[in-house]
Amino acid sequence: PMNCTIGPGLEGAIVCDTKIGYVNGSKGWLIYQGYDIFDLCAYSSFEEVSYLLFHGKLPSKDELVSFKQKLNLYRNIPQTIRQLDSFNIEEMSPMASVRLGSELMRQQLSHRIEEQVQLLYGGISADEDSISMEIEPTGGERATYEFESDEEELVDSCYQCIAGLSSIMGAIVRLRAGHLALEPDPNLGFAANLLYMMSGKKPTPLEERVMDICLILHAEHGINASTFATMVVASTLSDIYSSVGAGIAALSGPLHGGANEEVVKTLEEIKSVDNVKPWYKKLKEENGKVMGFGHRVYKAYDPRARILEPMAKLLVNDKPQMQEMYNIAKSIETEVQEDMGQEQKIFPNVDFYSGIVYKSLGIDSEYYTPIFAVSRISGWTAHVVEYLKKNRIFRPRAIYVGDYLNEFIPIEERE
Ligand code: CMC
Repeated sequence: PMNCTIGPGLEGAIVCDTKIGYVNGSKGWLIYQGYDIFDLCAYSSFEEVSYLLFHGKLPSKDELVSFKQKLNLYRNIPQTIRQLDSFNIEEMSPMASVRLGSELMRQQLSHRIEEQVQLLYGGISADEDSISMEIEPTGGERATYEFESDEEELVDSCYQCIAGLSSIMGAIVRLRAGHLALEPDPNLGFAANLLYMMSGKKPTPLEERVMDICLILHAEHGINASTFATMVVASTLSDIYSSVGAGIAALSGPLHGGANEEVVKTLEEIKSVDNVKPWYKKLKEENGKVMGFGHRVYKAYDPRARILEPMAKLLVNDKPQMQEMYNIAKSIETEVQEDMGQEQKIFPNVDFYSGIVYKSLGIDSEYYTPIFAVSRISGWTAHVVEYLKKNRIFRPRAIYVGDYLNEFIPIEERE
């Protein structure tokens, strides 16, 4: 037990120990398993970072090769994609479709994956059913997760989620545009394949690298709302797909992952740098929030925005229309900086420049939050694996401020 002061929205609450990610809000640091986000973006790949989040160390060459092979294998989920196609996903939000995809994977994946693994690797067990968590009484008291025996299988299911939902994401984009879903390309890495499955075009090396960095940047961020939601569901000993479904639901809100889409809509509405000052004045009069600014933990510039801003600048260089969008964003940053920056410590967060980066890659704004989800699945599921080692169901309480002992009045006598 440790003492902490808890504010509204669980501000200041400590829910667990973790080695996976560390956000130092006053210094503006973001660390994954001991590695600085700037180094990871400069030298690493999404696959390497995902491995790091699970295993606490960077992979050797052989480990990375076999991890990539697994992800490649688990990207192939044609049956799930076919089932997804039987729903009217054009009428659903993309985030709801990703959540549906997670549920369809839960229902379908195990048999097909098992067949493929046996075919390719001669029978490594990857049966999804094996992730069902056995409950055993401990000392005659509460039920706990039998972690040692099941960890490998749980981790494998997490890999299936990471890889499978990237294919689902690609299929959602294609199906919503009235095209056929594409099969994954085994010769492409995670980032390049995601872009390919969404657009039908093989990305350039620059596009691939940009997407890879975006995926690395979004992969993990401590106990944020969606990670916590995922962990809460997992702590009930539900399955990993349902837990990830909770993460997707939490991420979709505009105060969390949904902010990136809102930012681009706002920039498009503002249209020109000349309109920024009147727009900002009106927003403040209406007590509105500037999407893509502020953070519960960062009281310094978000390091992810530090990386995304120059990337956005570079990418809009040869695109005049996008150039104006970037200029509007910079102008908003100046307004907020002068108004609330130093005093209230409100700076751009990850969502402010990411939309410009994605738009420069030709991606529609409705897919920015789903891409965030596809990347964050690594962080969500790594936290689940870590937490389940010492699982205890999350069960906070509220301070009851309602009435006591009201007299029950039969419905006929109520006014
Ligand atoms: N624009 C204007 N004022 C703001 C903003 C903003 N974006 N963010 C915080 N403030 C003000 C807020 O009005 C409040 O002022 P006062 O004390 O005078 O009432 C003060 O700063 C504290 O804000 P808060 O809303 O109590 O802070 P929080 O820790 O509860 O919320 C936040 C954090 C991220 C939800 C919030 O900053 C926000 O709504 N930002 C806009 C949405 C956004 O960009 N979300 C993405 C977050 S980063 C990626 C992610 O997690 O998904």
